[in-house]
Amino acid sequence: MTNRDDVDKVRVAFEEAGQGQVFRYWEELDAAAQAQLLAQAQTIDLKEVQAMVAEHVLTENRESLRLDGLEPAPYISLPENGGDAALWESARELGAEALMAGRVAAFCVAGGQGTRLGYDGPKGTYPVTPVSGKSLFQVFAEKIARSSERFSTTIHWFILTSEINNEATIRSFRENDFFGLPEESVHFIVQGLVPAVDLEGKILLSEKGRIAMTPDGHGGSLRALVRGGAVERMRSLGVDCLSYFQVDNPLVQCIDPAFVGFHVQAGSDLSSKMVSKAYASEKVGHFCTQGGRNLVIEYSDMPAALQAEKEPDGQLRYRAGSVAIHIFDRDFIAQLGGDVAGAKLPFHRANKKIPFVNAAGEMTKPEEPNGVKFEMFVFDALPLAKNAVIIEAFRGDDFSPVKNAEGIDSPKTCAEDQRRMFGRWLQAAGADVPVDETDLPEAVFEISHRFAADQADFIKRWQTLSPKPVLENGSIIGTV
Ligand code: UTP
Repeated sequence: MTNRDDVDKVRVAFEEAGQGQVFRYWEELDAAAQAQLLAQAQTIDLKEVQAMVAEHVLTENRESLRLDGLEPAPYISLPENGGDAALWESARELGAEALMAGRVAAFCVAGGQGTRLGYDGPKGTYPVTPVSGKSLFQVFAEKIARSSERFSTTIHWFILTSEINNEATIRSFRENDFFGLPEESVHFIVQGLVPAVDLEGKILLSEKGRIAMTPDGHGGSLRALVRGGAVERMRSLGVDCLSYFQVDNPLVQCIDPAFVGFHVQAGSDLSSKMVSKAYASEKVGHFCTQGGRNLVIEYSDMPAALQAEKEPDGQLRYRAGSVAIHIFDRDFIAQLGGDVAGAKLPFHRANKKIPFVNAAGEMTKPEEPNGVKFEMFVFDALPLAKNAVIIEAFRGDDFSPVKNAEGIDSPKTCAEDQRRMFGRWLQAAGADVPVDETDLPEAVFEISHRFAADQADFIKRWQTLSPKPVLENGSIIGTV
């Protein structure tokens, strides 16, 4: 039941904010629908909406990218690309110490809607491995379990969901016994939703008694970690490094000791991995530096001429591509996700086709973008970070996302990249693996991540296998 005073208070606040249309159908709603609309309206930060609308919807001249003083960001190269091998080794040792001391947790952002893949269900439940079809969540769970074993600790795992997929995500973990992880080490955090507005900045209704809301972007993960109590939980667990990755990238090293080591050594607020762009127009963000601060410039904002600039040796000058792999310092999250004035992440706008109830009370499915969705991006934290570190990653061991149903970054390309990685690990361990001209193994097999979390781990464990497994179609190596 709705309380009359509550209803009046909320309605007046919406009227005053110029959003009274949200309650246009109030009298037509039954009691349950009224209660639902009221509860939803009470979660909305009207001041925040007003600010987003003023800045991004009603303002014509949107701030354009400043290019003065823009340079490629410096990064630490891999030893095979000229980096200092001893430096990497000492980072690896330092990272292993931090892991053994229980200072590191994993953090997967899985609150997105996954519209491009067009899969009905949380993206993390999508099957990705080439033989057994393990889901993305299972792949990460196995890597985390193996890393816990390797560093004699329990690595906690925080997972960002949104109201749209939280229940189904938790159900999938329960149905699969948390993929072998201790249940108390897995923590779900629900991210915030923000209302979608029309092109005049008016909040849209998705039903007569429901506001059209969308997740507040992966950048919303920082305030969700604070609001959902995860930062406090990390503090009580003694965790001060959060290893951040996206749900759609099964290649990612969820826990990478060298990366942790570089982060800890620098006393960094936010560390990032880069991979060299495959070609000038590849759609990844660019790590740049400007005025002494690092920043990521999205491919859509970076002038094509700059993207194509080359070094004298022929390499792309702006080659450092962002692959959304970071380590966050816990106190930095608290600072950005809390209420410290001036340190919050900005919102960005995206024009979308948003189904809505029109002024005549009819459900409308627009053919053209009719509204605006607001999102925060996690990489906007970079210019605010002190001692930010960027290290080079080998793409084949860290990045092959499942974004689209077909074509590039699809389940097919990702399965092939996993197979190439397995083939490489085996060859590095001394096995004979016939491959084609793209390094794709001829046989379709996979390596269980419960057995080995990365190549160095695999090489060690492979030596212990006797007899060696046969590499043929359908083999799953290291099933324990
Ligand atoms: P994408 O930008 O690829 O978006 O998210 P998406 O929602 O998964 O897919 P599309 O664009 O609708 O096809 C990159 C990562 O950020 C997470 C996603 O779950 C994915 O891991 N994300 C995105 C969130 O956690 N919350 C958001 O609000 C948006």
